[in-house]
Amino acid sequence: MRTVYLNGDYLPENEASVSIFDRGFLMADGVYEVTSVLGGKLIDFDGHAVRLQRSLDELDMRSPISKEDLLEVHRELVRVNEIDEGMIYLQITRGAPGDRDFVFPDPETTVPTIVLFTQSKPGLANSPAAQKGMKVISIDDIRWGRRDIKTVQLLYPSMGKMMAKKAGADDAWMIEDGFVTEGTSNNAYIVKGNKIITRGLSNDILHGITRAAVLRFAQEAQMEVEERNFTIDEAKAADEAFITSASTFVMPVVEIDGVALGEGVPGRVAPRLREIYLEESMKAAI
Ligand code: PDD
Repeated sequence: MRTVYLNGDYLPENEASVSIFDRGFLMADGVYEVTSVLGGKLIDFDGHAVRLQRSLDELDMRSPISKEDLLEVHRELVRVNEIDEGMIYLQITRGAPGDRDFVFPDPETTVPTIVLFTQSKPGLANSPAAQKGMKVISIDDIRWGRRDIKTVQLLYPSMGKMMAKKAGADDAWMIEDGFVTEGTSNNAYIVKGNKIITRGLSNDILHGITRAAVLRFAQEAQMEVEERNFTIDEAKAADEAFITSASTFVMPVVEIDGVALGEGVPGRVAPRLREIYLEESMKAAI
């Protein structure tokens, strides 16, 4: 049984519970982070901690924990649960005011709820899915306008994954005003020649921590990066495509809406970037 962290305590998972009045439960009034673990170490902890603080600030929510203590909790959970490869999920909500009300509760009397738990995923780095590549479908992006805040409003992304599954694909890329925004839980990229193309940062997409690292590594490896919008038709005609996230790192996309990209197998750029990303981020892991 896993040991989880809830509001300052380490508990067996079946003893950790949250109030029915918690605003995370009633209103999706909460933010989250997913940090990957490789070789028992945290990948890009600092980036996730900084983005978490930004999400909290944007929602006028107080942080119940300092960055130093947060690092300690992450490390302790990895240690007690003996995680070699996997993820740490963290969620902070505005807490449980003891009744349902749209108005934010007084932060002096209602303290945030904080939960962390581990997910063990042996073989995450050497994933067979990365060898094969994944298939995506395109769907309308009907999410709210502040996708830069990492909130727990994941119903539509969850529905998108189900639509993909039903269509025999692995995930969905979302489209708004004719352009791809991002994947249901990842950032989206296409490759044309030696150029990597991905949508620029705005409120329309989550500012991926993996995205920032991958673009940096790509530039260091003299690859050309262009941050701009692209259409799904441009993606279908691309040489390669891929996604990035803390749980998939760099994952090749080999088919979009039933159209195979190139030879329909991972190309040159995405697997190379995956290799560089894993190597460099493991070196910097803490
Ligand atoms: N998802 N875009 C969306 C909508 C996401 O949910 C995520 C992450 C990303 C990639 O961000 P990062 O590189 O920081 O993981 C982009 C996490 C992994 C999840 O929901 O499980």
